[in-house]
Amino acid sequence: MHGFLQCNNSTFRLMEKSSISLVFPSFFILFLFCFLSLTTADSIRQFQSIKDGETINSDGEIFELGFFSPNNSKNRYVGIWYHNIPVKTVIWVANRETPLTDSSGVLTIGSNGNLVILNGKNNTIWSTNASILSDSTVATLFDSGNLILRDANSNNSNTILWQSFEDPSNTLLPGMKIGVNLVTRQNRFLRSWKTDTDPTPGIFSFGINLQDSNQFFVWQGSSPHWRTGYWNDRSFNQIPVTSNSFIFHFTTVSNEESIYLEYSALYNNTRMVMDVSGRVECRIWYDSTKTWGVAWMQPKDECGVYGVCGKNTRCSDSNTPPCECLRGFEPVSSKEWNSGNWSSGCKRRTALKCGEEDEFLSLGRLKVPDHEFLVAAAGKAEDCRAECVRNCSCNAYVFTNVSGGASQCLVWFGNLMDIGDLIENQGAQDIHIRIAASELSTKKNRRLKVIVATTVVAGVLLLGAFFYCFRRMAWKKAKHRRMSTWVPSDSSAQSASDLLDTDMFVKDGLKGVDIPFFEFNTIVVATDNFSQLNYLGEGGFGSVYKGKLPGGQEMAVKRLSRTSGQGLEEFKTELVLIAKLQHRNLVRLLGYSIKQEEKMLLYEYLPNKSLDSFLFDKDRCKILDWEKRFNIILGIARGLLYLHQDSRLRIIHRDLKTSNILLDEEMNPKISDFGMARIFGGNQTQANTNRVVGTYGYMSPEYASHGLFSVKSDVFSFGVILLEIISGMKNNSFFHSDESSSLPEHAWGLWKENNGLALMDPSLRETCNTSEVLKCIHVGLLCVQENVTDRPTMASVVATFVSETASLPTPKQAAFIMRRDLSEVQCSKNEITFTGVEGR
Ligand SMILES: *[C@@H]1O[C@H](CO)[C@@H](O)[C@H](O)[C@H]1NC(C)=O
Ligand SMILES: *[C@@H]1O[C@H](CO)[C@@H](O)[C@H](O)[C@H]1NC(C)=O
Ligand SMILES: *[C@@H]1O[C@H](CO)[C@@H](O)[C@H](O)[C@H]1NC(C)=O
Ligand SMILES: *[C@@H]1O[C@H](CO)[C@@H](O)[C@H](O)[C@H]1NC(C)=O
Repeated sequence: MHGFLQCNNSTFRLMEKSSISLVFPSFFILFLFCFLSLTTADSIRQFQSIKDGETINSDGEIFELGFFSPNNSKNRYVGIWYHNIPVKTVIWVANRETPLTDSSGVLTIGSNGNLVILNGKNNTIWSTNASILSDSTVATLFDSGNLILRDANSNNSNTILWQSFEDPSNTLLPGMKIGVNLVTRQNRFLRSWKTDTDPTPGIFSFGINLQDSNQFFVWQGSSPHWRTGYWNDRSFNQIPVTSNSFIFHFTTVSNEESIYLEYSALYNNTRMVMDVSGRVECRIWYDSTKTWGVAWMQPKDECGVYGVCGKNTRCSDSNTPPCECLRGFEPVSSKEWNSGNWSSGCKRRTALKCGEEDEFLSLGRLKVPDHEFLVAAAGKAEDCRAECVRNCSCNAYVFTNVSGGASQCLVWFGNLMDIGDLIENQGAQDIHIRIAASELSTKKNRRLKVIVATTVVAGVLLLGAFFYCFRRMAWKKAKHRRMSTWVPSDSSAQSASDLLDTDMFVKDGLKGVDIPFFEFNTIVVATDNFSQLNYLGEGGFGSVYKGKLPGGQEMAVKRLSRTSGQGLEEFKTELVLIAKLQHRNLVRLLGYSIKQEEKMLLYEYLPNKSLDSFLFDKDRCKILDWEKRFNIILGIARGLLYLHQDSRLRIIHRDLKTSNILLDEEMNPKISDFGMARIFGGNQTQANTNRVVGTYGYMSPEYASHGLFSVKSDVFSFGVILLEIISGMKNNSFFHSDESSSLPEHAWGLWKENNGLALMDPSLRETCNTSEVLKCIHVGLLCVQENVTDRPTMASVVATFVSETASLPTPKQAAFIMRRDLSEVQCSKNEITFTGVEGR
């Protein structure tokens, strides 16, 4: 300031006479304005107010507080919405039940220090009702979306008198808690709006059940509408664990004072909403498409709704009607049941004898019933069964042998509520229900009758089938012409007729492609009816089983989950893609099978399973010496290069991770799981999607936060895999004593200090080749760079590996994908000075 005045002395003097009188007051006003806006922009103080039409913003301009009307409504409400998002999204409403009918309202701090809304007649229509022992208070809107009322006296300003986070509307934000305060017995809920245009509390709420405090519910009035399932130390067992849901990380806290749930998110601008129709929705803002994407929502279909079939039933969305009695049970009232009113459920057909005379029937992997009891001491399946046998009101048990030795025995007493098909593979356990032994034998008698009946029916059907085939042949001819030009598309809309035609469509559409079709029954036999003994694990969108064909050939059967809803589209994509791909580093497709809702892909069976089962196992990792690891790295790179460039199509895998890299007998890597892959047209290099699929820890920042994907997002995932192979550490459960929040960040830190080798898995010390290891780390760091264009292509990665003398650009700071706040990354970018060659 001083310098400025000196340098401009002459100008100043020239201006003196004519304009000093103007300049000075405007400086003063500007100063005053700055001062006022600095002190009041995010706060309301005593004797200050905001009128309808005025707003205040949080300090970082993320949230805005003011008066608003919902769409199609004339009523005025005070609320908080996102300031930084162009679609008006209200996250909190003050006067939900007492709208203003005109724009005369004022939000101010009343004489008793509470925040109040006054109408045009100076009547209080809403107030914070805090008991306040202070003569001056201030209400501040924070960047978290929280509106906090505090004592304005700086000595007491840490005491919160009231906060909007403790008076939630229908939205949960990071930092907010839903649950119960055990001291005050206050139970806090999210409450839906009445309609989309009316914030009055509606019929649905989300919160804890005080009687059964280990799970949360969506309530319809006072009846349960959906349950989160029990908290198992890491997650709720009914909240789907899909790639997207990792963006929302739920935790519960339960202590003597309170039990509550909260979430943290990987990215900015996420929210969880109790929707007017009873759904809990977790949404993420996509800047690229300017829309709120859905990470997950529940209940999604009919069977997600709590107890929709009544007690002792099983609900399957793939059946019509969805409800059936459990085996050995019959409808309480067959009249009601047959008319489609399932509310009274089913009852036992034959009374239990109790004790060892009853049988247990395995229902397979299902959504387990509500009201479970954990039996502490049951190390073996027989012990768990015995635990249930002991008490005659025990009707079911589940025994799980979690990998790592821990086992769990759950039992259920009384009626079995809310059994159903699994939601996206989550909370699925093999459940055994107790039935009278005689029920199993009546089943046999029945079978006789059934056989007689079947013979009669079969004759009739045969006749029918003859006519059907005749008609179909004529129809098929016309259809085939239309279908042969089909190409996989990104459209997730699936018309009903599309689904109906699946069977024929796939067979016809692939006529020119040489993939064998297998009858469903062949697969059932090959996998021993999808027996647990043949269960290999979860792949994208379905369970994988080992199967053995009559000739002895082994295969891996991927059974696409019926409830995933996206199955058919992915199925087509994967089928068409893999059929055209032939490469030694890609897993080979042997065939497919399809029958109504059942869709299956049959792959070559690789006995060594996936890379992660070696890499992250403290004993098995020793099998992978440096030579093997380098060979694996090179193989993955070649497979990926083929996908990106060398095959006739340009394919982006989108879900590369160590568990999708399978190993053959000689530890050659094969990339698997193309269910999420996308084909690109010749010139297309980048696309974006509303449905971010992929896996936490491997997704590039631009893909995870904006849905933008390109071959460079695969390159990013490859970089993460590379660093994992070298270090033996897992990125998505990365903990290290230094401050790094992710493996790439840790690697970059070491690299910067010229200590790259410290990243190496200690088990490699004897076999490693220093220059190769360093080269790999270098390439890995280049691949995980924040900036898409800085990342190398797979072609140059492969070239680097095979050349002895390649010189590489210096990597820039690795993208900190694990950080919650992506904007931090953008900010910190400027602080780094780059040296050496630019990465191009
Ligand atoms: C409301 O109260 C304010 C301040 O006490 C006063 O200035 C104003 O005239 C009052 N308005 C009406 C309509 O009573
Ligand atoms: C804050 O506390 C200090 C020490 O107790 C006291 O001297 C000061 O006057 C207080 N300030 C106000 C604004 O009350
Ligand atoms: C279904 O049956 C229950 C129990 O009998 C009865 O209370 C309910 O009103 C019925 N619902 C409908 C829609 O008929
Ligand atoms: C069986 O379990 C129920 C529910 O826990 C309990 O109330 C009952 O006392 C038990 N009966 C026996 C014989 O242990």
